[in-house]
Amino acid sequence: MASRGTRPTSQERRSSGADRADQRGADGRPALSTGPELGPMTLMGQSCPLHNRRGSARVVPRDENMELSFSMEMDTRIYGSNPGQHQDSSQATPIQRALRSLSIPLERLHIMKGHMIEDMCKGLCRQTHAQAKVRMLPTYIASIPNGTEKGNFLVVELCQNQVRTLLVTLYGDGNMSPNIVYKIFDMPEGMRQGEGEALFDFIAQCLSKFLAETTTSEIKETTTLPLGFVFPFSCQQTRLDKAELLSWSKGFSCSGVVGKDVAQLLQSAINKQELRHVEVVAVMNDTVGTMMTCSMEGRPCEVGIVADKGSNCCFMAESYLVETADETSGRMCVNTEWGCFGDDGILNDVFTPYDECVDKESSNPGVKRFEKMVGTLYVGEIVRHALIALTAEKALFNGTDVAVLKQKGVFTMQHVLDIINNEDGITEVKKILESLRLQPRLAAILSYMCQTRDLETLTVNVGVEGELYTGYPRFEEILLSVSRLLAPECMPTLLPSRDGSGRGAAMVTAVALRLAAQSRAVDEVLAPLRLSRADLEKVQALMRQEMDRGLCKETNPTASVRMLPTYVTHTPDGTERGDFLALDLGGTNFRVLVVRVTEEGITMASEIYVIPATIMQGTGEALFDHILDCIIDFQMKQNLVTQMLPLGFTFSFPCQQVGLDKALLLTWTKGFSASGCVGKDVVQLLRDAAKRKQHLGMQVVALVNDTVGTMMACGYDDPKCEIGLIVGTGTNACYMEEMKNVGTVEGDQGRMCINMEWGAFGDNGCLDHLFTQFDKVVDETTINPGKQRFEKLISGMYLGEIVRQILMAMVEKQLLFKGRPCPKLQTRNIFQTKFLSTIELNGLALRQIRAILNELELDASFEDSVLMREVCQAVSLRAAQLCAAGLAAVVEKMRESRGLDQLSVTVGVDGTLYKLHPCFSDNLQKTLKDLAPKCNVTFLLSEDGSGKGAALVAAVADRAANAAK
Ligand code: BG6
Ligand code: GLC
Repeated sequence: MASRGTRPTSQERRSSGADRADQRGADGRPALSTGPELGPMTLMGQSCPLHNRRGSARVVPRDENMELSFSMEMDTRIYGSNPGQHQDSSQATPIQRALRSLSIPLERLHIMKGHMIEDMCKGLCRQTHAQAKVRMLPTYIASIPNGTEKGNFLVVELCQNQVRTLLVTLYGDGNMSPNIVYKIFDMPEGMRQGEGEALFDFIAQCLSKFLAETTTSEIKETTTLPLGFVFPFSCQQTRLDKAELLSWSKGFSCSGVVGKDVAQLLQSAINKQELRHVEVVAVMNDTVGTMMTCSMEGRPCEVGIVADKGSNCCFMAESYLVETADETSGRMCVNTEWGCFGDDGILNDVFTPYDECVDKESSNPGVKRFEKMVGTLYVGEIVRHALIALTAEKALFNGTDVAVLKQKGVFTMQHVLDIINNEDGITEVKKILESLRLQPRLAAILSYMCQTRDLETLTVNVGVEGELYTGYPRFEEILLSVSRLLAPECMPTLLPSRDGSGRGAAMVTAVALRLAAQSRAVDEVLAPLRLSRADLEKVQALMRQEMDRGLCKETNPTASVRMLPTYVTHTPDGTERGDFLALDLGGTNFRVLVVRVTEEGITMASEIYVIPATIMQGTGEALFDHILDCIIDFQMKQNLVTQMLPLGFTFSFPCQQVGLDKALLLTWTKGFSASGCVGKDVVQLLRDAAKRKQHLGMQVVALVNDTVGTMMACGYDDPKCEIGLIVGTGTNACYMEEMKNVGTVEGDQGRMCINMEWGAFGDNGCLDHLFTQFDKVVDETTINPGKQRFEKLISGMYLGEIVRQILMAMVEKQLLFKGRPCPKLQTRNIFQTKFLSTIELNGLALRQIRAILNELELDASFEDSVLMREVCQAVSLRAAQLCAAGLAAVVEKMRESRGLDQLSVTVGVDGTLYKLHPCFSDNLQKTLKDLAPKCNVTFLLSEDGSGKGAALVAAVADRAANAAK
């Protein structure tokens, strides 16, 4: 039995710390576990390592009298009492046995933590959620206060025996000193078990009385007074203001409420009281209110624990893990409802006979098993049952029949606390309470947060409130030391919740209103980018019109889509053979390749070369000289100097082709502007450079656009591939058109591949209605304003700039960075395609997004990151949809020209945006299906680039040239 004398004083504890020095290893670091088979905390009465916060170990000295002494180190003994290693239970006193049954060995706690994490995952997963005991309910609270919240907010809290009403005024000062006026109303006897309607009417009456007494005329005159409702029961929320009660607990069982939306029930009751200006804006669990109460600017709190009549916890989870809510961005607060942990029997072995009695006598037997182990509504009862058993064993009260103990509820938490907090109190009872199974679940939650945020260590604030926390001074110490033992990677700081959950509820309500206003403002900014189906149909029709105009000889000169003939009349048939050189110029990379086409297939080797911006925008001579240098270097490296190989040239710019090896550059695009090239034959420019370099080792036989190279490359594997699409730095498409439709080339037989040059679609003003102010600014700042207008809405070279323009507008409207100016956003081209692709990755934790933004020196909050992702999504979705509308026009035209009811065709596709962006291809394909339902379109990704296709074209040209010779 414990006595004061056996408790080590702090002095003694310090000196025992000195003893520890003896047990350090040779390196001076603390000695580790005594044996591998004994996990770190299993032995009682032996030196065993304790993990400190950072996971390193320290050694606790052997303490023979551990059952009786308590200190931080003693937590091991509270929980570490592995029964197998205990002193022989036959020798133990009944009290020791009773105590032991109430304590849980550390290993078991580790196992419980593991189960808890499993249960959490089960609760969050869409498929298993319905069966999960730990429900992990989404709260639709995705933001914590940022301190700018302002205004008057009404709160009503339903408590065990009371209704609390509060009027909270926030001043936007970091929520440091809100003004709070409150009034508490006692709930009439029996109301908890009565009719639901009566309960809600009572709450509304409390509100009415409170408002009558406290509100100023200013508040009375406001049109609406937003209300946050703290409802501390298990609810399935589908919105912040829609919460269906799943089940009552803690002695409540009002009729007609389970399955109903409690926000609606409260609103109706409020309306009955004629408080029409009071609007229920948010319903939340008390844990959420607690977490929010403890959250202030600069000190966000991301876990809330209530250790009161019931026990529960909420925390901020990564939204994408909360599959039951359709929210993938940011974080969402999840109400764990951890009181139900163990309802599937997983805790049966730690459930004592006392717990069983308490459960049986409760209003909800068999459920909320864990809550009944730790909630203060039940603690007194557990102690009472333990005392009954001990009395019966004559271990206490000398076996006198203490009839009073038989009465349910006679022992309240307060009694227990009085005893426990009184140094001279009954030490056994004190032990019982101290041994209470303060959960491993905080540890589970912290570990889960740490893992899912991809952190090595998690530093987090945990808001706590409740009778057990406020009334029991050692609660914090025990809770922290258990979580340190079980989750050494986490560093929680407990924050007491001043003002209960009411102040937090006001903040939730305030945040909800702030976010609603913000989301309206964001929608307004993004609205012009959101395209309806009708908009897309119109784009499709316009594209079709421009295609027809481009194909027709008379209208071709004024058509914005040039529909350039390529002189490629067949897709590959598999008979192509030979070794070829290929060049691939105009995408992200400039490549030189050697391609070997044999009966067995195609093999290639290539080298990437850089084209510096100075050369792209210098003279044509310098550009082609540079290209020649690269070719020569490549041939040397590949030992090809002595061979005269035919060369296929992928040149990804608009060219008026006169033949396969004669192509006049119409205009530069995508940031190129080398002088002296426009209007010239590009093949000749290359030959001239070869002459200048006196290089005879190549023979240019074909020039193709990258779309054509891509179509040919994919066509080698799939004969149905009759369309080439590029969505990369630029965008463009080509397809096999009936010769009879090609008015710009003589002859009606067969087909010819047409390089659409659709990037210029809209250059004649036909898409002006689509351009937003952002698109216009982006266009104006390019080197070719007014040109390639469609491309500038779609391709990788421009999307980042559109995003940047939108973000700048949002900063101006104070929607981003809390309105603080962000000079870094002024930097042109800071957002590359790579950025757009990463930021939209599904499941990418916000922390990673923030890291990306920080790399760009943008100091974004989590909310800023969410908003940025939304902007990127709007921009990339529009791009994919526009691309689909263009493609729909192409496939529909092919279907019609071929007189088919249904067209089956493959699109060979390439480009970094298409390849890297996580949603672009899905959005494109979905929209295309919708706009061209009679076409069955397959997308085939070009794996090896368009150089392979250029080589195949060169093969055909070479064969034809040889045949002619
Ligand atoms: C490459 C092709 O794979 O993709 C090029 O080989 C093409 O010919 C390019 O121009 C397009 O994508 P990006 O993103 O590099 O412009
Ligand atoms: C630009 C070019 C075009 C090319 C496309 C994709 O639009 O003008 O020729 O196909 O980019 O690279």
